[in-house]
Amino acid sequence: MPAEHVVDQARSDLQQVARTPGVAKPDALLVADGVRRSFGGVNAVDVEHLEVQRHVITALIGPNGAGKTTFFNLMTGFDRPDTGTWLFDGTPLSGVAASRVATAGMVRTFQLTKALARMTVLENMRLGARDQPGENLFTALVKPVWAPRERAITDKAMSLLERFKLDTKKDDFAGSLSGGQRKLLEMARALMSDPALVMLDEPMAGVNPALTQSLLGHITDLRDSGTTVLFVEHDMHMVRHISDWVVVMAQGQVVAEGPPAAVMADQAVIDAYLGAHHDTDLGDDALLEEGGVIDAEAEAEADAEEKKP
Ligand SMILES: Nc1ncnc2c1ncn2[C@@H]1O[C@H](COP(=O)(O)OP(=O)(O)OP(=O)(O)O)[C@@H](O)[C@H]1O
Ligand SMILES: [Mg+2]
Repeated sequence: MPAEHVVDQARSDLQQVARTPGVAKPDALLVADGVRRSFGGVNAVDVEHLEVQRHVITALIGPNGAGKTTFFNLMTGFDRPDTGTWLFDGTPLSGVAASRVATAGMVRTFQLTKALARMTVLENMRLGARDQPGENLFTALVKPVWAPRERAITDKAMSLLERFKLDTKKDDFAGSLSGGQRKLLEMARALMSDPALVMLDEPMAGVNPALTQSLLGHITDLRDSGTTVLFVEHDMHMVRHISDWVVVMAQGQVVAEGPPAAVMADQAVIDAYLGAHHDTDLGDDALLEEGGVIDAEAEAEADAEEKKP
């Protein structure tokens, strides 16, 4: 079936799903059960059950400190839970190291970009390739074995850099890129391993408004080419604009989930946000109809201001 039909089917299947926290999905790619993580008495993550539908864009939202990043860390092997199991495409991944999680097809980007500043853009991309034969001592000694593969990795890196309009920067140090370009580089690097699920932690934070439209396009393109996307975002206009499903976390728990418009109108969601900050803009549909100027930079600045002690 062509990718667009698969995506349309996955999206229409979601219409039948009840708006209940932890509800089962028709075709779940990621299924988490009883995942808990506490830090010194604070339950950072306390997810009873969560399913992420394959082939759609799911937004994970919630106030600061809700546990969104910790949940990403746990699922991708960057942190260990106190309890809990999860299946990725039917394979248990609890206790599996981050590199093996990536090999299994689940990659994530970081809220604070982890591009290696003193490596070039192209070198950063090459790090995203899975099982590089050059890393194995034996094959490293047998150049003819890995040279073609190395070339294939470089070719793939270059085509992704072109897609993200970073090809002219391939020899620049990642540290010289703007915040938005680093976000793009991180997303491009995540795609080097052809993941089935990409988890993006605040892809728009700190991104110049000039780049936000193209970032949105990259995210919807990912879905339309068959990649499942789970992203964390505070910009509710963006969440409404591109997500097929929204999951709301508060104090570590999933408190609501459903289609974007329904979730934003949900009293539990409004309460979860208003409990944290009173001025949260849950998104205005009218803005989107006009083409909606999404000012992520201003939002990020406001966010940074808010986080100051
Ligand atoms: N390594 C850590 N050590 C101690 N506490 C932590 C650690 N990581 C997270 N926490 C705490 O766990 C809770 C959840 O944090 P987390 O970063 O997951 O929230 P978040 O939803 O991503 O927030 P934000 O929207 O601000 O990024 C917070 O109370 C945070 O202070
Ligand atoms: Mg976070």
